Amino acid sequence: MSVYQATASAPVNIACIKYWGKRDTKLILPTNSSLSVTLDQDHLRSTTTSRADPSFTKDRLWLNGKEDEIKDGGRLSTCIAEMKRMRKELEDKNPNEPKLSAYKVHICSHNNFPTAAGLASSASGFAALVKSLAALYALPASPSQLSLIARQGSGSACRSLMGGFVAWEQGTSPDGSDSLAVQVATREHWADIHALICVVSDDKKGTSSTSGMQRTVETSPLLQHRIHNVVPQRMRDISAAIQKKDFDTFARITMQDSNQFHAVCLETDPPIFYMNDVSRAIIALIVEYNRVSVEAGGKLKAAYTFDAGPNAVIYAPKENVREIVNMIVKYFPQAEPFKDPFGLFGTAGVQGG
Ligand code: PMV
Repeated sequence: MSVYQATASAPVNIACIKYWGKRDTKLILPTNSSLSVTLDQDHLRSTTTSRADPSFTKDRLWLNGKEDEIKDGGRLSTCIAEMKRMRKELEDKNPNEPKLSAYKVHICSHNNFPTAAGLASSASGFAALVKSLAALYALPASPSQLSLIARQGSGSACRSLMGGFVAWEQGTSPDGSDSLAVQVATREHWADIHALICVVSDDKKGTSSTSGMQRTVETSPLLQHRIHNVVPQRMRDISAAIQKKDFDTFARITMQDSNQFHAVCLETDPPIFYMNDVSRAIIALIVEYNRVSVEAGGKLKAAYTFDAGPNAVIYAPKENVREIVNMIVKYFPQAEPFKDPFGLFGTAGVQGG
């Protein structure tokens, strides 16, 4: 008897231009385009195995060993249904293909980092889920086509289908068919950029991105200014900076956009606070580090960014990473650099704080 099973993994991505706000909550269509870097280290990945079998009586999913409910009409069930629909199309065209679209699936997913702590676990999770189902169903879909489905699981997941520097184009079509991820540049194009993850807290975040975004869309005038007058230009400028490997511009825009994202959270009614005192101390440290460099006639040496949680991600050229790790360890004595701070592509991680 044949076994129909496939495993795939996907890394987290950290946005430089933040996605915050939906114009369609069911299809997950964003109010602005966004751009991220897909982290290529082994520490921050989701790995998912999917299996289809005629003996299964319902679709089931386990996350880190615990079963999660697949709610009817929910995001998981939407992604699974979309993948089955694509498989059915393939079976209709190729009658010799086994009818896997009619079988129930069991899905087992594992994150090797804290779930829901502002480390984009939903991004890597839904990207790995869609990739593993695409492999199980032998779908000839491109990463951009798969991004349309991952987006319906968690918006930011669409950007984890590709490596390197990835834009999520908001699109204009009401059916979401042009709201997809595209690669702006490969990792190899600008391999010199590294990401240092500072895990300030691995607690589950207080306000989910879904409810936070909805409240921001309903109450923040600054979000409207951001959508119409700020993000479109930033998308163009940061894409050009990536093409030119211009770290100064990349860093400036990344920090400005993180600040504006947290400003719209603060303006939301009631306000949302994702950063804490340690997060703000990390900002102060990076600001000072850059100031000293610029005053000495140099350039920006590092950029901080924070998602919907207190953890910092610091982007920096490789030559500065060792200095930044030493600085963080000096000012946050509880911080422990990961045993292997320079992974496959030299990405470093620091835990504690
Ligand atoms: O995809 P979600 O619902 O987890 O939202 C992610 C939102 C941010 O991480 C704060 C920004 C982003 O673009 O990833």
